[in-house]
Amino acid sequence: MRLILLGPPGAGKGTQAKVLSQKLNLVHLSTGDIFRESAKRPDEIGQRLTGYMQRGQLVPDEIVNQIVIEKLKDKRIQNRFILDGYPRTKTQATSLDEFLAINKIPLDMVVYMQTSEQVIIDRLTGRRICGKCGANYHIKNILPKKDGICDICGGRLIQRDDDKKETVLKRIKVYNQQTAGLIDYYKNKGFLHTVSGDLEVDRLYKILHELFNEEGLI
Ligand code: AP5
Repeated sequence: MRLILLGPPGAGKGTQAKVLSQKLNLVHLSTGDIFRESAKRPDEIGQRLTGYMQRGQLVPDEIVNQIVIEKLKDKRIQNRFILDGYPRTKTQATSLDEFLAINKIPLDMVVYMQTSEQVIIDRLTGRRICGKCGANYHIKNILPKKDGICDICGGRLIQRDDDKKETVLKRIKVYNQQTAGLIDYYKNKGFLHTVSGDLEVDRLYKILHELFNEEGLI
């Protein structure tokens, strides 16, 4: 299966992609994860990436396209990937289309996770992650056993720089300006299926599973 998860920040793309990739043996490609990892580099590239993310801005298309297309050249993943957070602009979408067409590997589906703004803000501003292993917590919904400490590795829990309220609002604005247009782009191509990102994690997973079943993808 070749799948794109499209939706605003905090829609739960990463959360669903993780579960789907494990259960359906797919490769999860998250541009956000790739950039967070690369931003740790102590050089100029690391600093530039940190800057874009801290400001809630998109990384330039040339950099993003190069990284994703390079990954998709790997024949082992060409028939079984989930793209999470890519494409995010029309330029990225057309680059991806060209690559898929040249390699004769058509997309199966684009799932748009429609999510309300208040849900996004609550989820992201309340999120805490472990600074060591990256495990995910939430100040109301996913509490660690010991305050501020990761249950898994004992690392300290921190807030992602881009989860501060001001940056979350900026990310939503950038999404509306630069990414939301892809909903119509993929609708016009006949790939789009819309689900509610407001739903609880397990319920949404079940709906996605049923959708893939109905479409003969699993
Ligand atoms: P990225 O990491 O992709 O950030 P994002 O999409 O803006 O936001 P999230 O990853 O937080 O959203 P998500 O929908 O994956 O939700 P998640 O499952 O994590 O990108 C970060 C930055 O990298 C960008 O700002 C940009 O600078 C750069 N970048 C990345 N891709 C790029 C591209 N293609 N082009 C240019 N720049 C790019 O869930 C969020 C929280 O909600 C979690 O705490 C989770 O536990 C919780 N949650 C999830 N689902 C549910 C649910 N159903 N119910 C309750 N809680 C839930």
